[in-house]
Amino acid sequence: MKNFTSVHDVDNVQALVQDALSIKKDPYAFENLGKHKTLGLIFLNPSLRTRLSTQKAAANLGMNTMVMNLDKEGWALETEDGVIMNSNKAEHIREAAAVLGQYCDIIGIRSFPQLRNRDDDYNELILKKMINFSGRPVVSLESATRHPLQSLADLVTITELAPDFLNRKPKVVLTWAPHIKPLPQAVPNSFAEWMLKSDVEFVITHPEGYELAEEFTNGANIIYDQDKALQDADFVYVKNWSSYSDYGHILNSDKSWMLNNKKLYKTSNARVMHCLPVRRDVELASEVLDGQNSIVIQEAGNRVFAAQAVLKQLLMDNF
Ligand code: CP
Repeated sequence: MKNFTSVHDVDNVQALVQDALSIKKDPYAFENLGKHKTLGLIFLNPSLRTRLSTQKAAANLGMNTMVMNLDKEGWALETEDGVIMNSNKAEHIREAAAVLGQYCDIIGIRSFPQLRNRDDDYNELILKKMINFSGRPVVSLESATRHPLQSLADLVTITELAPDFLNRKPKVVLTWAPHIKPLPQAVPNSFAEWMLKSDVEFVITHPEGYELAEEFTNGANIIYDQDKALQDADFVYVKNWSSYSDYGHILNSDKSWMLNNKKLYKTSNARVMHCLPVRRDVELASEVLDGQNSIVIQEAGNRVFAAQAVLKQLLMDNF
């Protein structure tokens, strides 16, 4: 594996999941693999889980980590080529990425979409330029269109909890939830992409107008009736996203889409997932979050082992 930006960078998804589960049992088995190697973690947006879980994963592998909140601590970045740099953007990503490549052996970058121009966001300029100009393996810490470290941790969690007595594939339902702000499509895009590479029955439910880009959902069963979609679910993944077609806009704030216990009773005693942070009683009812079906903390804990499996693979394949 050269970079980790989507499920398409992974040769064998199931092997990576199993490796993360092995690492969970013995986190220090490769504690010298990253000795004298430096991981740079560059954030253009806030983070709790991604930042700390990836730092911990690197430490478990013996790596040094340097973290920079580039949006607050660095020079404002110009990403367009061919512009005369007479605005407030003091540094071009060409030099910034190349310099990071001098200091770091592996680079992680978080770069959210602006949600203004769909083509700009879906072109993933920052991620692509970091790969092109750093000359180092790059890990997406959530880009404009995907959050692969989250999706891998989600799949690890589903794999470790999938009931082995079922004589069918586990049914996984991604359900849209209300929110007060327009959010990116990165988490649901990515979750769909990883589920469609896995041995699960995958259903997406959302109000009309919230269809995700087909490149991420081709092969998924899309059902607009949430109650119908939830029937017999083994896992329910709750997430808000803004519209892809009416790009970046909120089209619906119907509170009846929030998962509560009444809706949960329609499922097959489903485990409830959310990538966090979550707005209580806006996206997801407190009674569900605090209930015994919620696995959001275990899911966040697995972020360490997902990141560690990815860093381990990059270290083994590139050095
Ligand atoms: N789920 C997730 O990526 O959390 P952070 O935004 O806190 O990193």
